[in-house]
Amino acid sequence: MNKSSDPTPRLLLAPMEGVMESVMREMLTAIGGYERCVTEFVRVSSTVLPPKVFHRLCPELKNEGRTASGTPVYVQLLGSDPALMAANAKIVAKLGAPGIDLNFGCPAKTVNKSRGGATLLKTPELIFDICKAVRDATPVDTPVTAKVRLGFDDDSQFADIADYAIKSGINELTVHARTKVQAYRPPAHWSQLGTISNHRGIPIIANGEIWTPSDLDRCREQSGCDAFMLARGALCRPDLGRAIKAHAESVPVNPMSWPEVAELLIQFFEANGARYDRKYSINPLKQWLVYLQYCYPQAAALFAQVKRIRDPDDMMCALLGATQKRAISAAA
Ligand SMILES: Cc1cc2nc3c(=O)[nH]c(=O)nc-3n(C[C@H](O)[C@H](O)[C@H](O)COP(=O)(O)O)c2cc1C
Repeated sequence: MNKSSDPTPRLLLAPMEGVMESVMREMLTAIGGYERCVTEFVRVSSTVLPPKVFHRLCPELKNEGRTASGTPVYVQLLGSDPALMAANAKIVAKLGAPGIDLNFGCPAKTVNKSRGGATLLKTPELIFDICKAVRDATPVDTPVTAKVRLGFDDDSQFADIADYAIKSGINELTVHARTKVQAYRPPAHWSQLGTISNHRGIPIIANGEIWTPSDLDRCREQSGCDAFMLARGALCRPDLGRAIKAHAESVPVNPMSWPEVAELLIQFFEANGARYDRKYSINPLKQWLVYLQYCYPQAAALFAQVKRIRDPDDMMCALLGATQKRAISAAA
């Protein structure tokens, strides 16, 4: 089911709590390369949540579940009670989400204590129950997908985790190729996915440690997958999706320059200020600079300059300074 003859990989923008929110999704999907995004997880613990909760985390629901540039956004649910997850999924589908993703990978202690996220990797039968309940409760034309890791302490249960998830009837399975204990430490064990990607009836999406087009080539070779989910790499290099597509199609493309990134930072800051409150637009910007500095030394310098700024006007001055430097150096 994986191994298509199409050399162009399918790319998904990963769910990232506190980072990959609607403004970031809008910016990155506008640059291009992504076929789909997933929201940060919505925690389902004891109730059927009101629509406003889903609209807050996924404002795209007001736009037929798509970013402004038209990329579908699946809503991710995290919880351990099959009936409650199904009841919430029904609401999400009614609100018009193009798909629903189920989180079985979150390593956070608070989430795991209440039997959510990665802790469910210890009980593949419960993963089956949750996936099946959600699949059965939602219309057939609303895809249900799941995101797992290789296991909790080790990868000895990986085949079971994949089997139980897939036989529940879900439409696609994303695998973050590390265990919960491995957290986010490199490497990602892409070759583990090779054990399932060619034998199962649904697409398997590989995730973990894809920072460059050549990482994706190696992941593809080792995993046997044709679809990939990008998380931190997409934040470090805003044009990573577009660059991967161009690389696969052997189309020459210039990497995004620092001045272009600096313009994006201004747009990001302004969009967050307009959508939420100007004072809440400062931290997301600093957080993005921390990621960007892996690819752009100028981002490290800008972060050092702005890290103590608390006032939105001061932040805007610093950002404008970063873009003006560009104008001055271009004119010189
Ligand atoms: C800050 C942060 C927040 C994350 N939040 C979520 C989440 O809400 N749901 C989820 O399924 N995975 C979440 N993840 C995991 C990522 O989606 C992804 O699986 C992981 O970062 C590995 O991919 P990468 O090596 O490309 O970063 C998060 C990761 C990070 C670093």
